[in-house]
Amino acid sequence: MPRVYLNDVLKHAQQHAYAIGAFNVASFAILDAVLVAAEQCRAPVVLNIPEYLLSQPNSAGLLAAINASAQHAHVPITVCLDHATTLESVIAGIRIGCNAVMIDASTQTLDKNFRLTRAVTELAHACDISVESELGYIPWANAEQSGETSTDAIAYTSPAEAKAFAERTGIDCLAVSIGTVHGLLKGSPKLDLARLTKIHDNVTVPLVIHGGTGLSDEQHKKLIAHGVAKINYHTALNEIAGHSIRTQLAKHPDGDYPLLTSTIQHDLINHLSHLMRLWGSGGRAAEVLQQCRPWKTFTRIDVLPAESKYPPPENPADALRQAAILSNQDMLVKQQNQLHQCRITRYASRKAGELFATQNAAITELRIEIED
Ligand code: 13P
Repeated sequence: MPRVYLNDVLKHAQQHAYAIGAFNVASFAILDAVLVAAEQCRAPVVLNIPEYLLSQPNSAGLLAAINASAQHAHVPITVCLDHATTLESVIAGIRIGCNAVMIDASTQTLDKNFRLTRAVTELAHACDISVESELGYIPWANAEQSGETSTDAIAYTSPAEAKAFAERTGIDCLAVSIGTVHGLLKGSPKLDLARLTKIHDNVTVPLVIHGGTGLSDEQHKKLIAHGVAKINYHTALNEIAGHSIRTQLAKHPDGDYPLLTSTIQHDLINHLSHLMRLWGSGGRAAEVLQQCRPWKTFTRIDVLPAESKYPPPENPADALRQAAILSNQDMLVKQQNQLHQCRITRYASRKAGELFATQNAAITELRIEIED
């Protein structure tokens, strides 16, 4: 039940000057550790699904586990598709249960970034789904391995462009480039806090930092003091798991899989709990649950006389319909000795359900609406 709207929880974070953690959950071990740490710290949390998981074979089990966790957790959770690069990915993300999406067109021209972000915002908002977009470019540190310096590739966010971009696209939060890099840098990143202050003065939507790995505790605190409400964090978690295995291997060179991996959860939970307390999201779960709307998918059942036909599914807003409708199931049911044709449709949200209320005069009064 405690799945919440990203824009609600970020506004709460903004008002109370803390940041919520958004952690990539591309493995069962990390998903489990994030959930345990969030429950222990009573912290709201964002579970980030990286775009590649949508097309990776065998990811269905993990995606189902992420959704089930969001449903059953006792802390507020948002499931966000991270770094989606196309409208098709966004649609796929909504259909697998994400209730927030991050569109990343930061490698494209400003105009293309604007257009794609605007298209995603229109579609996602119609499904009540929050949108994050990146302006400027936050590079990936992989280049470090090949001897290049990835900080050279940073395209810093312009405060003036940020204002226009946020206002005209209608996004719910903005990922800014102010010196961080995705992944591990050799040195410590240098943050342009003066730029962050100007962006914060110009932009009303909450600000997001990508590339949380490698920043010092002091830098994290400064980011939050300068208006950051969400911090994306990933690489360090894999590093910690790797370190944990290496330490066990040094102690137990002949150790088997359970022994070599036995300390990973403990080490991850320790680190994650530290971050949740450092960022101030620890202890906020109850307030967020009280003050933020619970996000609900929506199921409706339309019943027609058996001889009627549903209208063909074509619709001018095809992409939107594709995202909004999570599933359709048709069946024949017998009621009071009459046969009815019955369609059960699961929509991404109530708003989406209302938007696509079936336009069919033949639908009888037997229409039923059920909320998850
Ligand atoms: P790090 O891997 O540097 O923590 O960044 C993660 C991230 O920003 C995911 O969106």
